[in-house]
Amino acid sequence: MFKTENISTVAAWLHHAQHIVAFTGAGISTPSGIPDFRSSDSGMWATVDPMTVASIYGFRHNPQAFYDWVRPLIQLTHDAKSNPAHLALSKLEQINKLDAVITQNIDMLHTRAGNKTVYELHGHMREATCINCFHIHDGMVILEKFLEDGKVPHCVKCNGIIKPNVILFGEQLPIVELQNAKKVARNSDLMLVIGSSLEVAPASDIPVIAKQSGAKIVIVNLEPTTLDSMADIVIYGDAAEILPAIVQSLEQLT
Ligand code: APR
Repeated sequence: MFKTENISTVAAWLHHAQHIVAFTGAGISTPSGIPDFRSSDSGMWATVDPMTVASIYGFRHNPQAFYDWVRPLIQLTHDAKSNPAHLALSKLEQINKLDAVITQNIDMLHTRAGNKTVYELHGHMREATCINCFHIHDGMVILEKFLEDGKVPHCVKCNGIIKPNVILFGEQLPIVELQNAKKVARNSDLMLVIGSSLEVAPASDIPVIAKQSGAKIVIVNLEPTTLDSMADIVIYGDAAEILPAIVQSLEQLT
Protein backbone atom coordinates (compact mmCIF):
# COMPACT_ATOMS: atom_id res chain seq x y z
CA MET A 1 0.00 0.00 0.00
CA PHE A 2 1.35 3.47 -0.88
CA LYS A 3 2.02 6.23 1.68
CA THR A 4 -0.82 8.78 1.70
CA GLU A 5 1.52 11.64 2.61
CA ASN A 6 3.21 11.18 -0.78
CA ILE A 7 -0.19 11.52 -2.44
CA SER A 8 -0.87 14.86 -0.79
CA THR A 9 2.67 16.10 -1.51
CA VAL A 10 2.31 15.30 -5.22
CA ALA A 11 -1.14 16.93 -5.25
CA ALA A 12 0.39 20.09 -3.73
CA TRP A 13 3.15 20.04 -6.36
CA LEU A 14 0.48 19.70 -9.07
CA HIS A 15 -1.45 22.62 -7.54
CA HIS A 16 1.58 24.95 -7.71
CA ALA A 17 3.21 23.71 -10.95
CA GLN A 18 2.73 25.63 -14.17
CA HIS A 19 3.89 23.11 -16.80
CA ILE A 20 3.07 19.49 -16.00
CA VAL A 21 3.82 16.57 -18.33
CA ALA A 22 3.03 12.86 -17.96
CA PHE A 23 5.37 10.18 -19.32
CA THR A 24 3.79 6.73 -19.51
CA GLY A 25 4.69 3.13 -20.25
CA ALA A 26 2.94 -0.22 -20.57
CA GLY A 27 2.26 -0.36 -16.82
CA ILE A 28 -0.47 2.28 -17.07
CA SER A 29 -2.44 -0.09 -19.35
CA THR A 30 -2.14 -3.37 -17.42
CA PRO A 31 -5.32 -2.52 -15.45
CA SER A 32 -7.01 -2.41 -18.90
CA GLY A 33 -5.98 -6.04 -19.45
CA ILE A 34 -3.00 -5.33 -21.72
CA PRO A 35 0.19 -7.08 -20.46
CA ASP A 36 3.36 -5.06 -20.12
CA PHE A 37 6.75 -6.25 -21.34
CA ARG A 38 9.10 -6.67 -18.36
CA SER A 39 6.94 -7.45 -15.32
CA SER A 40 8.70 -10.46 -13.83
CA ASP A 41 5.65 -12.75 -13.95
CA SER A 42 3.43 -11.60 -16.82
CA GLY A 43 5.58 -9.44 -19.13
CA MET A 44 5.43 -10.18 -22.86
CA TRP A 45 9.21 -10.54 -23.09
CA ALA A 46 9.12 -13.40 -20.57
CA THR A 47 8.36 -15.95 -23.32
CA VAL A 48 9.85 -14.56 -26.55
CA ASP A 49 13.02 -12.83 -27.70
CA PRO A 50 12.01 -9.24 -28.61
CA MET A 51 14.75 -9.03 -31.24
CA THR A 52 13.30 -12.04 -33.08
CA VAL A 53 9.66 -11.00 -33.12
CA ALA A 54 9.67 -7.21 -32.56
CA SER A 55 12.71 -5.85 -34.41
CA ILE A 56 12.60 -4.45 -37.94
CA TYR A 57 15.19 -7.09 -38.97
CA GLY A 58 13.03 -9.88 -37.54
CA PHE A 59 9.98 -8.42 -39.27
CA ARG A 60 11.64 -8.31 -42.69
CA HIS A 61 13.03 -11.84 -42.20
CA ASN A 62 9.83 -13.44 -40.86
CA PRO A 63 6.76 -11.16 -40.73
CA GLN A 64 4.51 -14.10 -39.77
CA ALA A 65 6.47 -14.47 -36.50
CA PHE A 66 5.79 -10.79 -35.71
CA TYR A 67 2.08 -11.08 -36.53
CA ASP A 68 1.70 -14.35 -34.57
CA TRP A 69 3.37 -12.69 -31.55
CA VAL A 70 1.44 -9.41 -31.74
CA ARG A 71 -1.99 -11.02 -32.46
CA PRO A 72 -3.08 -11.36 -28.78
CA LEU A 73 -1.86 -7.80 -28.10
CA ILE A 74 -3.91 -6.49 -31.05
CA GLN A 75 -7.02 -8.34 -29.84
CA LEU A 76 -6.58 -7.08 -26.26
CA THR A 77 -5.94 -3.53 -27.46
CA HIS A 78 -8.97 -3.69 -29.78
CA ASP A 79 -11.22 -4.65 -26.84
CA ALA A 80 -9.46 -2.57 -24.12
CA LYS A 81 -11.08 0.33 -22.28
CA SER A 82 -9.23 3.25 -20.67
CA ASN A 83 -8.80 2.62 -16.93
CA PRO A 84 -8.91 5.03 -13.93
CA ALA A 85 -5.23 5.91 -14.42
CA HIS A 86 -5.84 7.05 -18.01
CA LEU A 87 -9.00 8.89 -16.92
CA ALA A 88 -7.08 10.67 -14.14
CA LEU A 89 -4.64 12.06 -16.71
CA SER A 90 -7.55 13.10 -18.92
CA LYS A 91 -9.07 14.93 -15.94
CA LEU A 92 -5.75 16.74 -15.34
CA GLU A 93 -5.74 17.95 -18.96
CA GLN A 94 -9.38 19.09 -18.62
CA ILE A 95 -8.52 21.25 -15.57
CA ASN A 96 -5.44 22.68 -17.36
CA LYS A 97 -3.05 20.75 -15.14
CA LEU A 98 -1.40 18.73 -17.92
CA ASP A 99 0.40 20.11 -20.98
CA ALA A 100 0.92 16.71 -22.66
CA VAL A 101 1.10 12.97 -22.29
CA ILE A 102 4.28 11.44 -23.71
CA THR A 103 3.66 7.72 -24.11
CA GLN A 104 5.61 4.63 -25.17
CA ASN A 105 2.32 2.78 -25.57
CA ILE A 106 0.75 1.90 -28.92
CA ASP A 107 -2.70 1.14 -27.46
CA MET A 108 -4.20 4.63 -28.04
CA LEU A 109 -5.88 4.45 -24.59
CA HIS A 110 -4.81 7.99 -23.65
CA THR A 111 -6.64 9.36 -26.70
CA ARG A 112 -9.64 7.13 -25.97
CA ALA A 113 -9.64 8.54 -22.39
CA GLY A 114 -9.97 12.04 -23.88
CA ASN A 115 -6.42 13.46 -23.78
CA LYS A 116 -5.88 15.77 -26.74
CA THR A 117 -2.09 16.32 -26.59
CA VAL A 118 -0.50 12.86 -26.74
CA TYR A 119 2.96 12.18 -28.18
CA GLU A 120 3.20 8.50 -29.20
CA LEU A 121 6.95 7.86 -29.24
CA HIS A 122 6.61 4.20 -30.27
CA GLY A 123 3.87 4.76 -32.85
CA HIS A 124 0.28 3.52 -32.96
CA MET A 125 -1.98 1.15 -34.90
CA ARG A 126 -4.24 3.71 -36.64
CA GLU A 127 -2.21 3.36 -39.84
CA ALA A 128 -0.17 0.57 -41.46
CA THR A 129 2.44 1.06 -44.18
CA CYS A 130 3.64 -1.17 -47.02
CA ILE A 131 7.38 -1.79 -46.48
CA ASN A 132 7.82 -2.03 -50.28
CA CYS A 133 5.97 0.94 -51.82
CA PHE A 134 5.20 2.82 -48.55
CA HIS A 135 1.50 3.11 -49.38
CA ILE A 136 -0.35 3.97 -46.14
CA HIS A 137 -3.34 1.78 -45.24
CA ASP A 138 -6.05 2.17 -42.59
CA GLY A 139 -4.51 0.24 -39.69
CA MET A 140 -7.83 -0.69 -38.09
CA VAL A 141 -9.15 -2.23 -41.36
CA ILE A 142 -5.91 -4.13 -41.93
CA LEU A 143 -5.75 -5.44 -38.34
CA GLU A 144 -9.46 -6.41 -38.19
CA LYS A 145 -8.93 -8.59 -41.31
CA PHE A 146 -5.72 -10.03 -39.79
CA LEU A 147 -7.58 -10.94 -36.57
CA GLU A 148 -10.11 -12.82 -38.75
CA ASP A 149 -7.74 -14.73 -41.05
CA GLY A 150 -4.38 -14.67 -39.23
CA LYS A 151 -2.58 -13.97 -42.50
CA VAL A 152 0.27 -11.47 -43.02
CA PRO A 153 -1.44 -8.47 -44.70
CA HIS A 154 -0.31 -7.49 -48.20
CA CYS A 155 -0.48 -4.14 -49.98
CA VAL A 156 -3.42 -3.49 -52.35
CA LYS A 157 -1.06 -1.49 -54.60
CA CYS A 158 2.03 -3.68 -54.94
CA ASN A 159 1.29 -6.85 -52.89
CA GLY A 160 4.19 -5.91 -50.61
CA ILE A 161 4.08 -6.72 -46.87
CA ILE A 162 2.25 -4.26 -44.63
CA LYS A 163 3.58 -3.24 -41.18
CA PRO A 164 1.50 -1.41 -38.54
CA ASN A 165 2.95 2.08 -37.80
CA VAL A 166 4.42 0.88 -34.49
CA ILE A 167 8.14 1.38 -33.88
CA LEU A 168 10.07 -1.89 -33.76
CA PHE A 169 13.52 -2.33 -32.27
CA GLY A 170 16.07 -0.95 -34.73
CA GLU A 171 13.69 1.67 -36.13
CA GLN A 172 13.96 5.45 -35.71
CA LEU A 173 11.35 7.03 -33.45
CA PRO A 174 8.94 9.43 -35.22
CA ILE A 175 11.05 12.59 -35.27
CA VAL A 176 8.23 15.14 -34.85
CA GLU A 177 6.78 13.25 -31.84
CA LEU A 178 10.24 12.96 -30.29
CA GLN A 179 11.06 16.64 -30.82
CA ASN A 180 7.69 17.69 -29.37
CA ALA A 181 8.24 15.39 -26.39
CA LYS A 182 11.71 16.85 -25.73
CA LYS A 183 10.32 20.39 -26.04
CA VAL A 184 7.55 19.91 -23.45
CA ALA A 185 9.98 17.99 -21.18
CA ARG A 186 12.46 20.88 -21.29
CA ASN A 187 9.64 23.33 -20.51
CA SER A 188 8.12 21.28 -17.68
CA ASP A 189 8.40 22.01 -13.95
CA LEU A 190 6.77 18.70 -12.94
CA MET A 191 6.81 15.31 -14.70
CA LEU A 192 4.70 12.31 -13.66
CA VAL A 193 6.47 9.12 -14.82
CA ILE A 194 3.95 6.29 -14.76
CA GLY A 195 4.18 2.56 -15.43
CA SER A 196 7.53 2.32 -17.17
CA SER A 197 10.68 0.33 -16.34
CA LEU A 198 12.56 3.16 -18.12
CA GLU A 199 14.83 0.58 -19.77
CA VAL A 200 14.43 1.62 -23.42
CA ALA A 201 16.19 4.65 -24.90
CA PRO A 202 15.74 7.19 -26.38
CA ALA A 203 12.28 7.28 -24.75
CA SER A 204 13.82 6.84 -21.28
CA ASP A 205 15.91 9.99 -21.88
CA ILE A 206 12.75 12.13 -21.65
CA PRO A 207 12.44 12.13 -17.83
CA VAL A 208 16.19 12.86 -17.63
CA ILE A 209 15.74 15.89 -19.92
CA ALA A 210 12.92 17.13 -17.67
CA LYS A 211 15.07 16.64 -14.54
CA GLN A 212 18.04 18.43 -16.12
CA SER A 213 15.69 21.30 -17.03
CA GLY A 214 14.75 21.72 -13.36
CA ALA A 215 11.49 19.73 -13.24
CA LYS A 216 10.44 17.75 -10.18
CA ILE A 217 10.15 14.05 -11.07
CA VAL A 218 7.44 11.80 -9.60
CA ILE A 219 7.65 8.08 -10.44
CA VAL A 220 4.57 5.87 -10.01
CA ASN A 221 5.43 2.21 -10.61
CA LEU A 222 4.75 -1.27 -9.23
CA GLU A 223 8.46 -2.13 -9.18
CA PRO A 224 11.73 -0.16 -8.87
CA THR A 225 12.89 1.56 -12.09
CA THR A 226 16.30 2.51 -13.44
CA LEU A 227 15.67 6.20 -12.64
CA ASP A 228 14.30 5.94 -9.07
CA SER A 229 17.49 7.51 -7.68
CA MET A 230 16.92 10.75 -9.62
CA ALA A 231 13.20 11.02 -8.73
CA ASP A 232 11.97 13.54 -6.15
CA ILE A 233 9.23 11.12 -5.07
CA VAL A 234 8.72 7.42 -5.96
CA ILE A 235 5.33 5.88 -5.18
CA TYR A 236 5.29 2.08 -5.52
CA GLY A 237 1.82 0.78 -6.35
CA ASP A 238 -0.94 0.44 -8.93
CA ALA A 239 -1.29 3.53 -11.10
CA ALA A 240 -5.04 2.86 -11.39
CA GLU A 241 -5.30 3.47 -7.63
CA ILE A 242 -2.57 6.09 -7.15
CA LEU A 243 -3.42 8.55 -9.95
CA PRO A 244 -7.12 8.92 -9.03
CA ALA A 245 -6.04 9.43 -5.39
CA ILE A 246 -3.64 12.20 -6.47
CA VAL A 247 -6.31 13.92 -8.59
CA GLN A 248 -8.85 13.63 -5.75
CA SER A 249 -6.34 15.20 -3.33
CA LEU A 250 -5.62 17.99 -5.86
CA GLU A 251 -9.32 18.78 -6.25
CA GLN A 252 -9.53 19.35 -2.49
CA LEU A 253 -6.87 22.08 -2.87
CA THR A 254 -8.68 24.02 -5.61
N1 APR B 1 0.74 0.40 -12.07
C1 APR B 1 2.02 0.87 -11.98
N2 APR B 1 3.07 0.24 -12.57
C2 APR B 1 2.81 -0.90 -13.24
C3 APR B 1 1.51 -1.45 -13.36
C4 APR B 1 0.45 -0.74 -12.73
N3 APR B 1 -0.82 -1.17 -12.77
N4 APR B 1 1.59 -2.60 -14.09
C5 APR B 1 2.90 -2.76 -14.40
N5 APR B 1 3.63 -1.75 -13.89
C6 APR B 1 5.07 -1.49 -14.04
C7 APR B 1 5.94 -2.72 -14.06
O1 APR B 1 6.39 -3.04 -12.77
C8 APR B 1 7.10 -2.28 -14.98
O2 APR B 1 8.17 -1.75 -14.21
O3 APR B 1 5.21 -0.88 -15.31
C9 APR B 1 6.51 -1.15 -15.82
C10 APR B 1 6.37 -1.53 -17.28
O4 APR B 1 7.68 -1.66 -17.81
P1 APR B 1 7.87 -2.38 -19.23
O5 APR B 1 7.09 -3.63 -19.26
O6 APR B 1 9.35 -2.41 -19.48
O7 APR B 1 7.16 -1.39 -20.26
P2 APR B 1 7.73 -0.04 -20.84
O8 APR B 1 8.60 0.66 -19.84
O9 APR B 1 6.59 0.71 -21.37
O10 APR B 1 8.64 -0.57 -22.06
C11 APR B 1 9.18 0.39 -22.91
O11 APR B 1 10.00 -1.37 -24.35
O12 APR B 1 9.59 -3.39 -25.32
C12 APR B 1 9.64 -2.04 -25.57
O13 APR B 1 8.45 -0.86 -27.20
C13 APR B 1 8.28 -1.53 -25.99
O14 APR B 1 7.26 0.60 -25.44
C14 APR B 1 7.90 -0.55 -24.89
C15 APR B 1 9.25 -0.17 -24.30
